Amino acid sequence: MALSTSFTELFDVEHPIALAPMGGSAGGALTAAVSRGGGLGLLGSGNGDRDWLARELPVAADESAGRPWGIGFQAWAIDDGVVARALEHDPAAVMLSFGDPGPFVERIRTAGTTLILQVTDLEEARRAVDLGADVIVAQGTEAGGHGARQGRSTLPFVPVVVDLAAPVPVLAAGGIADGRGVAAALALGAAGALLGTRFQATAEALVAPATAQAIVDGGGESTERNRVLDIARGARWPAQYTARTLGHPFLDAWRGREDELERSATLPAQQAYQDAVARGTIPPLPQWAGEGIDLINDLPSAADLVATLATQAEAALGPQRPPRTTDTYTRGVTSRFRWWPAARPLRSTGGGGRSDRRSSGGRVKLPTGAGRLRSRRRGPVPAFRAGWRS
Ligand SMILES: Cc1cc2nc3c(=O)[nH]c(=O)nc-3n(C[C@H](O)[C@H](O)[C@H](O)COP(=O)(O)O)c2cc1C
Repeated sequence: MALSTSFTELFDVEHPIALAPMGGSAGGALTAAVSRGGGLGLLGSGNGDRDWLARELPVAADESAGRPWGIGFQAWAIDDGVVARALEHDPAAVMLSFGDPGPFVERIRTAGTTLILQVTDLEEARRAVDLGADVIVAQGTEAGGHGARQGRSTLPFVPVVVDLAAPVPVLAAGGIADGRGVAAALALGAAGALLGTRFQATAEALVAPATAQAIVDGGGESTERNRVLDIARGARWPAQYTARTLGHPFLDAWRGREDELERSATLPAQQAYQDAVARGTIPPLPQWAGEGIDLINDLPSAADLVATLATQAEAALGPQRPPRTTDTYTRGVTSRFRWWPAARPLRSTGGGGRSDRRSSGGRVKLPTGAGRLRSRRRGPVPAFRAGWRS
């Protein structure tokens, strides 16, 4: 039994699971493997490095076996030409994060490509809605890699974005590393989950073996949001974004002294960083990882992982039982609703299901957030209208 949401329907994918477009580590093979596994693979182009794209884009396009795949960029770091080059390979989606996506939206739309915008705070969420995002990724601060310096945790952030964005499908991101997390995302009203760190520990990830092993070995408490490593390595990330990384000697040396590190621009410090990389005493790149790493204990193939996540999510949502029918009588009109007892945990989201929501072909539809919009704008929606009454 597969979980059907507005996200799976939009992309015609089997599972409500997306690969985060992790700059450098989500290469073509990983992207294609996730898509072949029934999720949506997103190539991690980061700043749109031309050589990297030339190598990885064809792999994603050729190996995804006709399944939809997409590509992600860091909006602050790219120009229009990069997006144009990617669109030549006909991705199903372009995802933009971190910075103003505005300058790129028209080109993506004109190509008929689905626009995914990742947001790290409510201001970005409102902007994403205004720009007409087809899908919004709500990233909480548990996330590995970059995100809001003053963001919020996934649990409180996602439902607020779901309400704000409805009926636009929202994916939850940040700290999700097993199927229970995917199920939790759905219970929050999201249409799916986008996972990064979990997919770094897979056979296809473009990750140094030491980093993959550190993720398997590590615990969430050993991750920390910081700017220190960006400053030390000379990366020009906007100050509003910090990154969650595993521990690092430079972090210990400079924690809390980012301004000093930046002011002195600190050629000596940056030089010391490069020297340490050259000597091999620190890894060439920070080890970006999210708080969910306690849940990561193996290095499976990405397609197997997608299947496992989906199975776990379905199990966490409970056994699906046959639908029941309820007649309601309101203002002289009798309406008949079908509803699923197994969806009980999702009822508390306040709706989202509608009378046309029904089981088909072994798929069970889940709330998309549309009901929440109604509930917010027009007062509470009675449970029976949402179709989840038991
Ligand atoms: C190694 C790594 C690199 C990342 N690079 C990018 C990136 O280039 N663009 C982007 O939109 N998000 C990037 N992210 C953030 C992801 O999109 C996503 O929000 C995050 O991975 C979700 O949290 P999780 O890692 O706990 O699953 C990166 C995350 C990681 C772990």
